Amino acid sequence: MSAKIKPQAGILDIAPYQGGASKVAGVENSVKLSSNENPFGAPEAAKEAFSRAAHNMHRYPNTDHAALRGAIGEIHNLDPERIICGVGSDEIITFLCQCYAGVGDEVLYTEHGFSMYKISALAAGATPVCVPERERVVDVDAILAACTEKTKLVFIANPANPTGTMIGTSEVARLAEGLPPQTLLVLDGAYAEYVEGFDGGAALVESHDNIVMTRTFSKIYGLGGVRVGWGYGPKEIIDVLNRVRGPFNLSEPQLAAAEAAVRDTAWVDKCRSDNARLRAWLAEALMEHGVPSDTSCANFILARFPTQAEAEACDEFLKSNGLIVRRVAGYGLPNCLRITVGDESSCRRVAHTIGQFLETNR
Ligand SMILES: Cc1ncc(COP(=O)(O)O)c(C=O)c1O
Repeated sequence: MSAKIKPQAGILDIAPYQGGASKVAGVENSVKLSSNENPFGAPEAAKEAFSRAAHNMHRYPNTDHAALRGAIGEIHNLDPERIICGVGSDEIITFLCQCYAGVGDEVLYTEHGFSMYKISALAAGATPVCVPERERVVDVDAILAACTEKTKLVFIANPANPTGTMIGTSEVARLAEGLPPQTLLVLDGAYAEYVEGFDGGAALVESHDNIVMTRTFSKIYGLGGVRVGWGYGPKEIIDVLNRVRGPFNLSEPQLAAAEAAVRDTAWVDKCRSDNARLRAWLAEALMEHGVPSDTSCANFILARFPTQAEAEACDEFLKSNGLIVRRVAGYGLPNCLRITVGDESSCRRVAHTIGQFLETNR
């Protein structure tokens, strides 16, 4: 290839995204607890809607997503005109970076923040800036101190991945209000539905003109494989993002499945309460084995070990027993393992297997 053919600035700095493993060679019945998927799957209504829509696969999909935006607006009490739908919330993150940050601009994210913020910033040619957290919690003062006249975007997930921690609404408001005038705050609410009574920051979007919220169907709605997410923000910003959105970015089966899922509020309520119960049980069981974790507000637990070596050895032991969890050294947490809250039997298996490991290794 000609040495003169070069990708855009920043692209070669991107380390490809590492997804959660899904199989262990030679182990039957492995359980995947590495990608924060819903162990109960998708609601039946979403599966049926997906299949029905697939009959029309020769037709191009609708481009304005009006039915899905209408359903999201109705269920969450939001203005559908200010909603944009994408191929997972990842695509909304990409649009935000593409539209609001370029060469010479800074995109802030926090120490243990979700990896797509850095990847999307680099893909847009912008400079990613990592800000320290305080004991695995987003630190508003540190973010405000790191802002410069070049800062265009600030990304925080609330609850955060992979820590599972959250900051309160007044802290988020203080952040939005303290940002420089050219900076847009992105509130990533991928796990918002796991928090009882939490709006993901929607009310803050209403009361501020510099906040966009992103949400996903990949977690509590059980549609990770279908790839649908959305964003909510000021009308002018959503209009900008729609200019770079491919007109047919979502297929009819995607749109139909997501619409059915968002309307199934009973399913969401059940998954939220099951997750809360099993998460508390798992955290307590691990604590009894001497493995602490921060109080998680999401569908996973960040188990902390005294050393990286012990975390890695425990991961290997879990894997050899068919339990796939996530190493998070790449997120600056080398002595931790992120464990998705599975169904009851998976939680029991995880706790039992970690107990067995510690009996022989401590
Ligand atoms: C914090 C956070 N944001 C965004 C995403 C992206 O989700 P999706 O693109 O599936 O909507 C994830 C997925 O793990 C996540 O953890």
